[in-house]
Amino acid sequence: MLDAEAVRRGFPFIRAGRIYFDSTSTSLTPEPVLEKMLEYYRDYRANVGRGIYAASRRATEEFESARENVAKLINAKPEEIIFVRNSSEAMNLVASGLGLKPGERVITTIQEHHSNYIIWLREKARRGIALKVVRSDQDGNLDLSEMQREIESGARLVSVTHVSNVLGVKNSVCEIAKACRKSGALLLVDGAQSVPHMSVDVKRIGCDFLAFSGHKMCGPTGIGALYARKDLQEDLEPLCIGGGSIDDVGLDYYRLRSGPSKFEAGTPAIAEAIGMGAAAEYLMGLGMNNIEEHERELTRTMLEGVKGISKLKVYGPMDASKRTGILSFNIEGMDPHDVAIALDSAAGIMVRSGHHCALPLMREVMKTEAGSVRASVYIYNTRSEVDAFIEALSGLI
Ligand code: ALA
Repeated sequence: MLDAEAVRRGFPFIRAGRIYFDSTSTSLTPEPVLEKMLEYYRDYRANVGRGIYAASRRATEEFESARENVAKLINAKPEEIIFVRNSSEAMNLVASGLGLKPGERVITTIQEHHSNYIIWLREKARRGIALKVVRSDQDGNLDLSEMQREIESGARLVSVTHVSNVLGVKNSVCEIAKACRKSGALLLVDGAQSVPHMSVDVKRIGCDFLAFSGHKMCGPTGIGALYARKDLQEDLEPLCIGGGSIDDVGLDYYRLRSGPSKFEAGTPAIAEAIGMGAAAEYLMGLGMNNIEEHERELTRTMLEGVKGISKLKVYGPMDASKRTGILSFNIEGMDPHDVAIALDSAAGIMVRSGHHCALPLMREVMKTEAGSVRASVYIYNTRSEVDAFIEALSGLI
């Protein structure tokens, strides 16, 4: 079991008494992660992979040990972890790096965040790929038989979110991976909303790529990771090349390195990578299963609480076991932004409102142009905060 009260004490932002229900957008950062980044700036502020003096060697060691921690979090090998800026960049790297050819099929879903949607629309316009979008019902159940059929019809890649950032629903990525393996399609999983919240094991899933962000898992902004299966890295073209990604350069040739550094040109976000490593260690210390269980309990309480509020419509399944700690809803007759402003001003509760970077899902499945209100909980949220949230919502009606 997670001791949320003890966890809270490590988060300066909420020690001030705020109720932060927007961790799906970005999570808060605990003291051990802040300390680890400050330690870099204070004690060994040097570049990585370049100098041979002690401070530079230490920076390189800490940077690589961060890669090991991030790899461990998802049961990957360090050489399968490429540091990028965030999940969006990770997925852009796959979309543009695979060298998709005209007519090749990519399958994605209606549940995707814009980051995992417009990259494929761009590849369609740019390279003439064929894009197929698998639908879902209103509860967020993907049409898996449609997915199966589409995969069997032949696809170069399937790109699917593990957890919807709007509905909170968990998708059956293991099942999709099985179908991909059978048909020889590659699988990219958007793990931005799963890696911070549950145990994610790339070997168990059987995916080829997994994208996730540091800032959603208690780490800093500006850093994320792409898990890329080792044997796929050779044919993947980097988004950017330059210093640090090169094995040899002559007047009329260059040879790229192999391994993650091929994709990490230029001085990387050193403190941020070290911070992401510390965040991975911090989450593993709490236990990913404990985190998932804690969120499930809070979500169950939220779902129970909102059931009693008339005029409130919840999107996605009412069964907490099918979700992470994300609750999207609307109140009849109220604009979602007005609800968010009211929650903040009346009760100091921070939630997100709007389209949550998922317009196709909003329009096609949720049938709302105005968007929704989204409350999302994480390790530092408590039952009493959920009670305060339900009370504040009831007061708005
Ligand atoms: N992807 C983030 C969200 O859903 C920003 O809010």
